[in-house]
Amino acid sequence: MLLLTLETTCDETAAAVVNDRLEVLAATVASQDALHRRFGGVVPEVASRAHVERILPVIDETLRRAEVQLADLDAVAVATTPGLAGSLLVGLMAAKTLAMSLDIPLVAIDHVQAHVYACRMAAGKDVFPCIGLVVSGGHTNLFRCESPTDFTLLGSTIDDAAGEAFDKVAAMLQLSYPGGPSIQRAAAKGNAAAYPLPRPLLDDPSRLDFSFSGLKTAVRYRIAGPGHTDFSTITLGPQQVADLAASFQEAVVDCLVGKAMLAVERSNLRTLCVGGGVAANARFRERLTATAEGAACELIIAPLALCTDNAVMGAIALERLKQNRTDSLEIDVRPGLVRGRPE
Ligand code: KG4
Ligand code: ZN
Repeated sequence: MLLLTLETTCDETAAAVVNDRLEVLAATVASQDALHRRFGGVVPEVASRAHVERILPVIDETLRRAEVQLADLDAVAVATTPGLAGSLLVGLMAAKTLAMSLDIPLVAIDHVQAHVYACRMAAGKDVFPCIGLVVSGGHTNLFRCESPTDFTLLGSTIDDAAGEAFDKVAAMLQLSYPGGPSIQRAAAKGNAAAYPLPRPLLDDPSRLDFSFSGLKTAVRYRIAGPGHTDFSTITLGPQQVADLAASFQEAVVDCLVGKAMLAVERSNLRTLCVGGGVAANARFRERLTATAEGAACELIIAPLALCTDNAVMGAIALERLKQNRTDSLEIDVRPGLVRGRPE
């Protein structure tokens, strides 16, 4: 069986061809980072227009590299939730068109579940049941994952997603978008103990939730002085930027590692799967690896290319195809999240 998967939830246009042995025949990601950089964040209208331009070339390129013809495809899958409405619609329209014209089944993918499935793809073995942590620009969620598609939400951010906080703090430090990699680079030359910053909710063991908005404001006050938010006239030196970046990164990492390990401890599970763009962060990977080892927890962090948005993780659709759970051509996108859960 050959499956074509499409991913257009935010600002990456991606496609992959995967077979039912979970082998990836080809995968393509067209990043829009360069388009959004001058705005300091993803502009939804710019993202959806770029998807329109890129989706067909990305599909063509992926099929060509997989040495697969359209007529060889047995099913098409697409992420339909959560994400930016205009972006999701481009992928869904492309998938519906292929499903209809090739007369093959359509499978809708939950993008957040797919981020955990990236760990299954990387591990090359079953990883379920596990605790799943998805940390990206749009989501920061902890789940108990009974199976690839049966998740119970244990905790999530009550305000900003971790990646969103990285992007916003990077903008304050006048570092380029996307903020995560910029902060990581700046932090490498900084002292993480230079600025004491809060670790919101970390000392509350009754909750597995996260909060990054106050931490972001604390960085703002560190730049402008207590109570001041206007720092447009303040110029930071390179060492200050490096120290603020390192201190902020360490605070986020403390929160993510602390809550993820608390979720594992509280469960009867000893496997932790971590995905999403922020999971590409080197300091986070280093700290999580050391902590999980000490706690005898099997840790599976998606490799870098499978952390940020990609279509390989769309192989999760094979799990639904195995159960003959396909979708009608009438389905629509579901952009929203309610505290980390699709609406
Ligand atoms: O999963 P993803 O590609 O898209 C969403 O589904 O949101 O994640 C993008 C987010 C951005 O906020 C970006 O700044 C962050 O992941 N990110 C990182 C790193 N690489 C990407 N954050 C911290 N450190 C990194 N190395
Ligand atoms: Zn994502």
